[in-house]
Amino acid sequence: MVTLDVERKSKRSLQRLLPRLEKELADSISADSQGWQEFVERIDNYFPSLFNLYLGLYGNRYDFFFHLEDLLISLARSWFARATDLRELDKAREANPLWFQSNQMLGGVCYVDLFAENLEGVKSKIPYFKELGLTYLHLMPLFKAPEGENDGGYAVSSYREVHPPLGTMEQLSSLSRELRQAGISLVVDLVFNHTSDEHIWAERLKAGDEEYADFYRVFPSRELPNAYERNLREIFPDEHAGAFTFFPNLFRNGGWVWTTFHSYQWDLNYANPAVFNRMAEEMLFLANQGVEVIRLDAVAFIWKEMGTNCENLPNAHKIIQAFNAVARISAPAMLFKSEAIVHPDDVVKYIDPGECQLSYNPLLMALLWNSVATRKVRLLSQALATRHTIHPQAAWVNYVRVHDDIGWTFSDEDAASLGVNGYDHRRFLNEFYLGRFEGSFARGLPFQENPKTGDCRISGTCASLAGLEKALNEEGPNAVELAIRRILLIHGVILTAGGIPLIYLGDEIGTLNDYTYRDDPAHERDSRWVHRPRADWEKYARRHDPACMEGRVDLGLQNLIALRKDQEAFSGGELDILPTENDHVLAFIRKHAGQRAVIFANFSESQQTIAARILDQYSVYNEPMLHGISSIPAQQDLELEPLDFLVVGT
Ligand code: GLC
Ligand code: GLC
Repeated sequence: MVTLDVERKSKRSLQRLLPRLEKELADSISADSQGWQEFVERIDNYFPSLFNLYLGLYGNRYDFFFHLEDLLISLARSWFARATDLRELDKAREANPLWFQSNQMLGGVCYVDLFAENLEGVKSKIPYFKELGLTYLHLMPLFKAPEGENDGGYAVSSYREVHPPLGTMEQLSSLSRELRQAGISLVVDLVFNHTSDEHIWAERLKAGDEEYADFYRVFPSRELPNAYERNLREIFPDEHAGAFTFFPNLFRNGGWVWTTFHSYQWDLNYANPAVFNRMAEEMLFLANQGVEVIRLDAVAFIWKEMGTNCENLPNAHKIIQAFNAVARISAPAMLFKSEAIVHPDDVVKYIDPGECQLSYNPLLMALLWNSVATRKVRLLSQALATRHTIHPQAAWVNYVRVHDDIGWTFSDEDAASLGVNGYDHRRFLNEFYLGRFEGSFARGLPFQENPKTGDCRISGTCASLAGLEKALNEEGPNAVELAIRRILLIHGVILTAGGIPLIYLGDEIGTLNDYTYRDDPAHERDSRWVHRPRADWEKYARRHDPACMEGRVDLGLQNLIALRKDQEAFSGGELDILPTENDHVLAFIRKHAGQRAVIFANFSESQQTIAARILDQYSVYNEPMLHGISSIPAQQDLELEPLDFLVVGT
């Protein structure tokens, strides 16, 4: 909320700043006077909120006004550099701001090199993306990164250069245009919590440049790191204990750098407005290459304060909101997606049209796997009933797997209200997915097992976690059928629950774990590489063949995608849980624009009954069946086939 006082101050600041901008940018303004006019209109609309946030973050700095002016100049320069087609896209999106809630939306995510060698290769896969029905393509970090270990590109050495083996920035920008012509929005990461230790800012710091010492959080002794660490969670305990790394060549006697993740990923210091301004420039640079959605990486960690756990702090939200205002002014078509893999109460705090319009839904993801393991839907139903509704102008990005591990980020309080002990239950889930639990079908690997806390996360592909690897290698056709049904069941839920479904490419053909990462010195210590295999195009070639495993998964998924795209009921996010009185069956109703669909998902390997009385009450008998293998009898109990995903609707 901008108070009257701040509004007055913002107005006055703008009156002082605009003439200075006009002078500084005289040439660009005379070359593009209409562009300038549009920019001034957007500034009029969004400067008060940007000013309010910036004042809250940096108002106590002696050089506040200097940085504010510097920011505005950057915003104007980026706008002038924005191509005509992107400015047109800006207008189209402003006229249709909820475009991303459509049931036509379908996301895919892949690594450039692993999926198609390089950016030209990705371009050549556009026909495949269209076949699948993608409208959103997240290319994993493709920016210049250190050779060898670089956390899959999450250690960025330059936001303006593509990692040389993958191609060039010109190729990225041309790819974004071709994708857009094919109806696909390009999504890339803004890895803004940290840079690699080879980024020019880090290099300057190492060279002793004082200006850049303030870009990171570096300490000459252990005193402050010790004090901070009293309240911090360890994120990558396998790699280093605590959150700091010692570099002997910094300062005179060495220095401790804040490194939440790996030692080569240096956390930026957003308490310094110069860091905000420089990162805003990098973000707008990417927007001007045609990036339509920015995935804001590791949002929870960007603000640090002594005495707190330095996650999800109020100023982290302010920083993102200020970036959002920046985007509204200079690249209004661009949306933000937050990557907050934290407690569900904290996840939702990033979701707002003024902050992140999109958010990963780690709770739905984790609870789908929970239901797969337990064959019970109580936690899942509860979460959908109480935590699924978000701001009407925002959307979840629903997924079953991405490139990261699975963390069991459900709420302990929610679990306790159903009589489930969170700590014990997480242990069970880890045992189950590591294949150690008696009767488990899963083939997962531990990630960042922490003996101090008992914490552990799970790596593995969707298919291997769902039982397909074990079924193919050790069991037989019956188990294979069940594993495929599980894969389709959980994809059925993400395709219909509301929001944007996101497929981790490879999962559509049932890709199994790839254990060869253990032979690669750059990957051997990070089990997440087990689920990041190189695309096998020979297997892809079998995707239309119903007689083989790839074809069965892919054709099944194609049916579900067609179901989503045919039914307007799957637009938007409105969802009501339907009580089934059966612990194994999740049921929900989706409604949109007068259309309705009812979904039944049986998480057990045996037939399950839904009483006629319930079906009657929700008028299920009156509607045609759209998907599923069970048949709906007239006015009788419904016998749901094992692991069936049944949909009826108008
Ligand atoms: C995000 C990425 C993850 C990476 C981390 C550090 O969480 O998804 O892969 O390790 O950020 O950048
Ligand atoms: C932690 C972080 C998350 C990241 C993950 C990588 O869970 O919260 O941002 O994706 O680590 O494993």
